[in-house]
Amino acid sequence: MRSQKNSNDELKSEGDLNISPHRQVWAKEHIDAETQHWLDLDAKYFLHQSLSTPCLNVLSHCDGINLEDLQGRSLMDFHGNNVHQVGFANQRVIDAVKDQMEKLAFCTRRYTNIPAIKLAEKLAQLAPGELNKVLFAPAGTAAIGMALKLARMATGRFKTISMWDSFHGASLDAISVGGEAIFRKDAGPLLPGAEHVPPPDCYRCLWGCEDNCTLKCADYIEYVLAKEGDVAAVIAETVRSTSVVPPAGFWQKVREACDRHGALLILDEIPHCLGRTGKMFTCQHFDVVPDILVIGKGLGGGIFPLAALIAREDLDVAPDRALGHYTHEKNPVACAAAMATIEYLEEENLPANAEKMGGYAIKRMREMMQRHEMIGAVRGLGLLMGMELVKDRRTKQPATEEAERVMYSALSKGLNFKVTMGSIITLTPPLTISQSEMDRALDILDECLAEVKE
Ligand SMILES: Cc1ncc(COP(=O)(O)O)c(C=O)c1O
Repeated sequence: MRSQKNSNDELKSEGDLNISPHRQVWAKEHIDAETQHWLDLDAKYFLHQSLSTPCLNVLSHCDGINLEDLQGRSLMDFHGNNVHQVGFANQRVIDAVKDQMEKLAFCTRRYTNIPAIKLAEKLAQLAPGELNKVLFAPAGTAAIGMALKLARMATGRFKTISMWDSFHGASLDAISVGGEAIFRKDAGPLLPGAEHVPPPDCYRCLWGCEDNCTLKCADYIEYVLAKEGDVAAVIAETVRSTSVVPPAGFWQKVREACDRHGALLILDEIPHCLGRTGKMFTCQHFDVVPDILVIGKGLGGGIFPLAALIAREDLDVAPDRALGHYTHEKNPVACAAAMATIEYLEEENLPANAEKMGGYAIKRMREMMQRHEMIGAVRGLGLLMGMELVKDRRTKQPATEEAERVMYSALSKGLNFKVTMGSIITLTPPLTISQSEMDRALDILDECLAEVKE
């Protein structure tokens, strides 16, 4: 019998849940008979899970920053599962995909292909430090699994330190290092030796540092490294997708602690790689180089699933074993999509636009704080932005109910975004966004906050 101990609020971590009563109300008002027919079929044939089926709506098109639903309504997509760095249906990526499909559509194992080699070379050139060895996988979760295996083989150890509330994918190994109840609850025994520590969340600092940060969160990681004595790796998102940005000096301290205790540092930049935070790789903001960097999502240009592990050159230690062995490991079409994506990002200087537009949006959202008491904090790095809603700024009690109402109201007005951890409005638009599009989206958000306050 499954325990009902956790309330829905505790399960609201990675995203808003489809079992919410607000969802039913929204659907009643917005979904017509044809859409409902497809939603019913979706619900009939897919296994139900709380972050997807039953689904909210049916999409028919996506282009640039916009989604279009079956009823012809347009939505600016400030979520996009973080795959739409270069915008949806980017013509450069589509052309590369079509062209490659006609030349070499698949690469049978034992052979390699030029798009895969060129992409690996490009990533090694772009990645900082000695990160020069690459492995591809068809999903971020799979790349995390490869990173964990490589860390075990390279160190001869198996323990890990990762963070509560983190997400590294949905497979058993990834949820073992992940820290979200919605994935771990009822999943049975997870990987042994997967220790967890609190995330470096300055707004809700467990150590009470708040404005006087003394990096106790980093010291605690070193404490656990020392107590365990045989940790293979510290694995973490460089910046949590709820835009929890670690304090200055955090990563340097953790890097040094890993070095002192013989542990590898694995940074998961799957959702933010290739410029979302204003730099190609998020670790470049913190002047830290991990031993293994994991990227994905937008790497495939929002069209092809593709992820990559980029490892330090001297971690090439398992030539006689299999780290990945995924059927689509060196898929030439996926690699062509990724190369076109990177070229487009570079030519259009999209990381710089992410920095500029992100800075602009954060400033506007901080202005909104003066009008809306409900906004407890606004934070971000480039176009990874978060607005945390609270019932009371002093107690910081999460305003989960209100966050959902803001989200459903925004959907009605043409803005799509995700709510994470129950109360954080998470905004991740394409890096191609213009200032007028950003203004339009923020005007909607402002309006919805005012509505919910009434
Ligand atoms: C930080 C992080 N790591 C790993 C993953 C898993 O990637 P994928 O869904 O491609 O398996 C995700 C996906 O949301 C993510 O956000």
